[in-house]
Amino acid sequence: MNLKKIRLALIGGGNMGAALAAGLVTSKKMRPAQIRVVDVRPEILRSLKKRYGVSVGSDNAAAVRGSDVVLLCVKPQQMASVLAGLLGAVTPKQLVISIAAGIKTDFIESELGQHVPVIRVMPNTPALLRAGALVYCLGQHATKTHEALAKQILSSVGSVWKTGELSMDAVTALSGSGPAYVFYLAECLAKAGAELGLEPGFAEALARQTVFGAGRMLHEDKETPARLRERVTSPGGTTEAALRVMAESGFEGILKRALAQARRRSEELSRR
Ligand SMILES: NC(=O)c1ccc[n+]([C@@H]2O[C@H](COP(=O)([O-])OP(=O)(O)OC[C@H]3O[C@@H](n4cnc5c(N)ncnc54)[C@H](OP(=O)(O)O)[C@@H]3O)[C@@H](O)[C@H]2O)c1
Repeated sequence: MNLKKIRLALIGGGNMGAALAAGLVTSKKMRPAQIRVVDVRPEILRSLKKRYGVSVGSDNAAAVRGSDVVLLCVKPQQMASVLAGLLGAVTPKQLVISIAAGIKTDFIESELGQHVPVIRVMPNTPALLRAGALVYCLGQHATKTHEALAKQILSSVGSVWKTGELSMDAVTALSGSGPAYVFYLAECLAKAGAELGLEPGFAEALARQTVFGAGRMLHEDKETPARLRERVTSPGGTTEAALRVMAESGFEGILKRALAQARRRSEELSRR
């Protein structure tokens, strides 16, 4: 399927839905007229239409009937009722992509009641800046053609990887929740700087720019994170002194326990 020829129904134009619509239009992967966004909030529809020129509507089933790909961007707790409303409107000729956290492909398949191709995705918030990490897994009826199409769509808002569905809870714990860990790191750095006597606003500005700059180095430099760290850690220097305190205080172990807990929570939420 050629992305320039498909019609996309995007259900739920909130944070992530809007980011995907924006990414597809601004990257010129799709023309605005190919995208129909449906949401229960008229203000969201007005804004998306004005900003990106996409077509909008308030009838999920009608939008889906006229589409090749259905992109489900509603909250996980809204998925069951949205899928119930799409029963009979979605056919196996279409591709359904869901970004709802914790909603498994077999749930979507069984709710839609036919052999519908489904692809599940875990995005993260930097997708809003087209710098997301997006990980997908295939439902049982999704083919290579569906996969290639989904990759084209998702890559409009970031980098894309494939995994098995069993890994989706671990992915959620790492990249799905990960931006919050980095924000927390920046928050803690700013507080620590302020405790050293720096003016709090100045400390926060330094923390933000440091995380941003280090993030860019991780993105642009092909070295491993460990090598990048070693490159800026002179023996006997200040960085080494700080890193020793972090290692002795169990920094790595804290992150391992935090991610394990996030994965457990993701598993619990998926079971509900
Ligand atoms: N944001 C993230 O960082 C992130 C990360 C990973 C995964 N995700 C996943 O992305 C999905 C969307 O998250 P979000 O943060 O973009 O949520 P959001 O901002 O709440 O967007 C969802 C939109 O869908 C609307 N909606 C509710 N019921 C609907 C219906 N029946 N038909 C059409 N539209 C409906 C909502 O309206 P109301 O507000 O009135 O309900 C809202 O405007 C979630 O499933 C989440 O798990 C998000």
